[in-house]
Amino acid sequence: MLYDTIGKTYAQTRQSDPRIAAKLLEILKPFQASTIVDIGAGTGSYALYLAEHGYQVLAVEPSTVMRHQAIAHPAVRWIDAKAEHLSLPSHSADVAIIILALHHFPDYSQALQEIHRVTGSGQMVIFTYDPDLISSFWLTEYFPSFIADVQSTFLPITTLTAEMATIKDRAVNIVPFPLPHDLSDSFAAVGWARPELYLKHNIRNGISSFAKLNENELEQGLSNLRKDLETGIWDQKHGYLRQHTFYDVGYRFVFTAQ
Ligand SMILES: C[S@@+](CC[C@H](N)C(=O)[O-])C[C@H]1O[C@@H](n2cnc3c(N)ncnc32)[C@H](O)[C@@H]1O
Repeated sequence: MLYDTIGKTYAQTRQSDPRIAAKLLEILKPFQASTIVDIGAGTGSYALYLAEHGYQVLAVEPSTVMRHQAIAHPAVRWIDAKAEHLSLPSHSADVAIIILALHHFPDYSQALQEIHRVTGSGQMVIFTYDPDLISSFWLTEYFPSFIADVQSTFLPITTLTAEMATIKDRAVNIVPFPLPHDLSDSFAAVGWARPELYLKHNIRNGISSFAKLNENELEQGLSNLRKDLETGIWDQKHGYLRQHTFYDVGYRFVFTAQ
């Protein structure tokens, strides 16, 4: 399991972001669900938030290292399983959520079918990234192989919505989620307005794209970024971003309509 290796300090830098969590609650509200299955729940930061807001949560996570960092809550039941083979009865949850995890599932199609079995006629809510937008993110100037990595792992949004619409036999909504400048869940685009964050080892540790970079590209990219920040070149090119409070880097909520 990749996250048994790279996830050791995940809970330190990947706390739930209150804006993402609030948007999730807003999307979930009309579904009137009581049991949510969180697939690829990681260290459970969003599972915990949902439990604190009245939901029963089935948190599915195959990595022991990730599960062991979770904060226990009586309304969260942890399940050691993969999305493709959920050890859960059919129709045992009202809604499934997948937060920044679908791109890690080796067989997304089988995973979506299996999640459909467990949720029956219930809804699916996915927080993901639109891979068509990756080459416009400034970070790829420093780490060019992020482009190939993202494009080969994240499903194009049109493919994902078509697949969900077929499986669930209903319309699918796509809602862009502009990132706040002070995002507290330090995933890959966390430093869109705070480039200095990428120079921090603990921040990079919680981002799988950095873990997959080869040593040469990592060292070269970090050295170029450090230099451009010292000389002011980064600010000349991208400094306007520091004035924004929100920015659409390409994150999307994709969810079935009622
Ligand atoms: C980037 S983390 C996201 C964790 C959590 N959803 C969050 O937002 O903090 C991706 C998670 O997916 C898990 N994962 C990887 N392959 C999986 C699979 N086949 N089925 C379920 N989860 C998987 C990883 O172990 C990891 O914990």
